[in-house]
Amino acid sequence: MNEMPDDLILQVSNLRKAFPVRRGLLRREVGTIRAVDDVSFSIHRGTTFGLVGESGCGKTTTSRMIVRAIDPTAGGIYFRRPSGQVVDLATLSGRALKAVRGEIQLVFQDPYSSLNPRMPVSELIAEPLRAHGWKRRDRDRRVEELMQLVGLDPRFAQRFPHAFSGGQRQRIGIARALALQPSLVVADEPVSALDVSVQAQILNLLKRLREEVGLTLLFVAHDLSVIRQLCDEVAVMYKGRIVEWAEKEALFEHPRHPYTHALLKAVPAPDPHAAWLDEMDEHTSTAANDVAEATGAADAEHIGCPFAPRCPHATTRCREQQPPLTLQQANASQPHYAACHHADTIMHNTAVTQ
Ligand SMILES: Nc1ncnc2c1ncn2[C@@H]1O[C@H](COP(=O)(O)OP(=O)(O)O)[C@@H](O)[C@H]1O
Ligand SMILES: [Mg+2]
Repeated sequence: MNEMPDDLILQVSNLRKAFPVRRGLLRREVGTIRAVDDVSFSIHRGTTFGLVGESGCGKTTTSRMIVRAIDPTAGGIYFRRPSGQVVDLATLSGRALKAVRGEIQLVFQDPYSSLNPRMPVSELIAEPLRAHGWKRRDRDRRVEELMQLVGLDPRFAQRFPHAFSGGQRQRIGIARALALQPSLVVADEPVSALDVSVQAQILNLLKRLREEVGLTLLFVAHDLSVIRQLCDEVAVMYKGRIVEWAEKEALFEHPRHPYTHALLKAVPAPDPHAAWLDEMDEHTSTAANDVAEATGAADAEHIGCPFAPRCPHATTRCREQQPPLTLQQANASQPHYAACHHADTIMHNTAVTQ
């Protein structure tokens, strides 16, 4: 896959993950959940790419496949290594995979449970360094440097995680992720578990790191307001699929997909899927759909647009044909993709300008 453009660091191509659904005493497999269903997007070096969507849409599954914490069912994850070599993470294994591991790092959602409570901060941050054979003295120096970089006082290096606040713990998680100077950091809802005031501090830290160490970030969130503060490009996920992908301003000012529009309308509210989606959910709860999928009705469900049951614009075509993610406005300076049969009309009727 050498045709990957030079300015891209990651290209995710038709990525899928299906989880078996098991029921009963014998744990028989009664169906599958398509947690990630044909997802494609790419990330430019030095930028922050936002992946947003409601809980259960497949964000964590996508993130975990990219860092190869879990194996994809199908698809490609093309990654440009610092050497310039492009590898498909989806198919790497053994030593080749290990060599790449330090180059892509994950920041976890929950700073409370993701750090081993029995390890002092110095060891937590040094763990990836040790795994890559760094010597004690070099590790100590690097830990001090990293603590300073993320705004932690190096004098606290021997303290344990419980002595730190949620925001400070997330700084430890970020320092640890940066230890090996990864070319890509995947941050899976890194601020969702934090208070709003602390969220802002962590977002500012990530912005600063982007300037100072040229961080390339895949930033996952369920909240568009957080995405807006940080990201250059945004992909919106719904039920395992990307429904819209564009440069941030274009997405916020001219959303093309009704789901993006719904999320945007909910932005000022503290709960990102507030009233609008609740109304839609009265008749078609997401949980009910999931069960239908899991019990074999999946194929019927996937014939049409996954959003059709909740969409105010849905027509017969939407219920019968799944819209592919297609380039809108080919003449625009930045590409804008949407998976909606009615993307053009919807833009005129419901564009949001905030
Ligand atoms: N290990 C697993 N086994 C079975 N189902 C899973 C597993 N992990 C996630 N899922 C399911 O996959 C879907 C996507 O989950 P996830 O990627 O965690 O979504 P998000 O991070 O967007 O909330 C959900 O329906 C979830 O229940
Ligand atoms: Mg998640």
